[in-house]
This record gives sequence, structure tokens and C-alpha cells, in this order.
Amino acid sequence: MKIRKYRVKYYNFFSHFYDGFIALHSKDLQQQARNFLISTINPRGDETILDICTGTGSLLPLYAEKVGEKGRVIGIDFSSGMLQVARQKTKHLNNVLLVLADVAALPLGSTSVDAVSCSHAFYELKQETATSCLREVKRVLKKDRAFFMMEHEIPKKRFIRFLYYLRLLSMGSDRMREILKDETRRFIEVFTNVGKVVSPSGKSKIIISRKNQKV
Ligand SMILES: C[S@@+](CC[C@H](N)C(=O)[O-])C[C@H]1O[C@@H](n2cnc3c(N)ncnc32)[C@H](O)[C@@H]1O
Repeated sequence: MKIRKYRVKYYNFFSHFYDGFIALHSKDLQQQARNFLISTINPRGDETILDICTGTGSLLPLYAEKVGEKGRVIGIDFSSGMLQVARQKTKHLNNVLLVLADVAALPLGSTSVDAVSCSHAFYELKQETATSCLREVKRVLKKDRAFFMMEHEIPKKRFIRFLYYLRLLSMGSDRMREILKDETRRFIEVFTNVGKVVSPSGKSKIIISRKNQKV
């Protein structure tokens, strides 16, 4: 419980710099990654799209445009600081809803969502939270719909790869081993139908976990 409190404080503090930090070191890359995610999900008019660990909500206006006035976009995060920044980006959009919640317990009805995304955050979840989150995502998804988890692919350049490994290490050695050796295992435990796509640049990947009709 203490760790969670510390993490929320950390993200609240980071929310003041997050967008500037991303723009400084990877603006184009981040935009490419977002476009890749949107084209993979392919949101349609009147759908409900949920973005978990939405942070400063950069994906939300893009989804809102795709689903139109009849659709709905929900951004969930446990940091009020991050959501305040997201609010500034989305306050002109009637079809966007921001919710302060932990992804281990989603405050949404079962089979109510057409697609769930998570960008550059799932690896950072604690092991138990990640498993609870996957169960919750599966619960809220409509049948035959999917969860799209986007992350960086292992970088080809040596120095960037070193930084990538450092990031994984900061999540704990067990988690790092799991991500490097068997990145879909955790998803397969909850969803039976799991696949992976890599962006044309080779820099991003999306793990797609589909809720099967019968499950
Ligand atoms: C690295 S940021 C990513 C933000 C955004 N998805 C993006 O791609 O820019 C991670 C986000 O996950 C949120 N987060 C981490 N653990 C969470 C949890 N258990 N429940 C809800 N949000 C969480 C943090 O508050 C933070 O905003």
C-alpha cells in the first residue's frame, strides 16, 4: 500500500514535466508509435475505447476524433496530476471521460468496451497489479474485442539498447527476465488468443490479446 502511495506521488510530480520530457527526447518517435497504435486498433464511429494508464492523455483526442460524437473515449489513471494535464487536452471534447482509478479494479461495467489500449505503461505495473489488470480488461471488453498493449521493441542501436535494459532492470530482475524471455506468457494466462505486431520502423510492438467469443 505504501509503495502504491509513493508511485502515485511520483507520477503526480512527473506530470508537470512528462510531455516536455517526451517531446525533448522522442517527439517524432512517439507520434509514429501513436499512429501505429491507432491504425492497429482502427477505432470506428460510436465505439467505446478505453485507454488505461492514460497519463497526460495524448491518445485521447486521436481516439475521440475516430469514434465521433456517438462514440466514447475513457482515460483511466491513478495519478490526479497526470489526469489534470489530460483534462487540459480534452476539455473541448464531449466524448472523452477521465477517471481516477487503479487499473487493478476498473470501475466499468462488464462487456462495455470495444477496445482497450495501454501505451508504454504495462511493463511498469507491479506483478499482481498486472495480472489483476488483465483480468479486469478481459471483463470489461465485449466479446471478440481486444486489448492492445504497446511498448518499445528491443532497440537495435547498442547505447539505446543499454538504456532500454536499464529501464527493464528498474522494474525488477524477475520482470525483466519475463519480458525478455517470454513476453506474452502473462497475457496467455488470461487471454487464450494472443498475438504480436511490430511497427514498420521496428521500434514499437503491440501485443494484441483478444477476448474469444466463447470465453
Ligand atoms: C509512463 S506513463 C505512460 C503514460 C501514457 N500511457 C503515455 O504513453 O504517454 C505511466 C502511467 O501509468 C499510470 N499508472 C501506473 N500504475 C497505475 C495503476 N496501478 N493504475 C492506474 N494508473 C497507473 C501512471 O500514473 C502514469 O500516468
